[in-house]
Amino acid sequence: MSEKTPDLHAAYALTSPDDNKRLYAEWAGDYDDCFAAREDYQLYIHTARAFVRSGGQGPVLDVGAGTGLCGAVLADLGVGPIDATDISAEMLDQAMRKDTYRDAIEADLTQGIPVPRHSYSGIVSSGTFTHGHLGPEVLPALLRVARPGAQFAVSINAKHYEKLGFADAFRQLQQGQIINLSLPEVRIYGDLAAGPNKDDTAYIGLFERT
Ligand SMILES: C[S@@+](CC[C@H](N)C(=O)[O-])C[C@H]1O[C@@H](n2cnc3c(N)ncnc32)[C@H](O)[C@@H]1O
Repeated sequence: MSEKTPDLHAAYALTSPDDNKRLYAEWAGDYDDCFAAREDYQLYIHTARAFVRSGGQGPVLDVGAGTGLCGAVLADLGVGPIDATDISAEMLDQAMRKDTYRDAIEADLTQGIPVPRHSYSGIVSSGTFTHGHLGPEVLPALLRVARPGAQFAVSINAKHYEKLGFADAFRQLQQGQIINLSLPEVRIYGDLAAGPNKDDTAYIGLFERT
């Protein structure tokens, strides 16, 4: 156990998948109550709604599903079946308790996703393309498991987007691999948030696989 309780500051400072595994093993039990509820975390709601508004349908893969907040909103909106993938077994345990996912797939996404290609009609991801977590190099692994025509809704922290060159990555993917890209910007937290990141924003990358 580390000496400090995991928080967003610690999460943003992570530098490797193993660091992520360690931090989220500790954070899983109180992520929903001590982070999501207290910080008025909203990004998973924006992401799920944007997916449905764009016509997204199951089967869906929730990438970096964590404790399953995004999947729960999707299920409420009538989307399914939904699988969860994450590097953290402890976060996936919490997700499976919500009873919304069909399968949990424990995987380090920087090493690929261990499911057959073309498995999903939809891909969602909320809060996982952010500082200390995943960068644009993971997008091809997501495209591999998506069917032709699959709808994506992938949130990307706005500062992380600039810093890691997501714009270039999307420009390249638009040369034949994705179409209909839009990047609406949303607030990650709601009006009750008080922390130093309370005004942070994210883009929701909405696009279709060709
Ligand atoms: C901030 S949480 C977001 C969880 C959830 N989607 C949400 O919106 O609450 C980020 C998640 O990404 C996962 N993660 C970080 N690095 C990963 C990697 N290399 N492969 C798979 N999952 C990873 C973490 O375990 C964690 O559950």
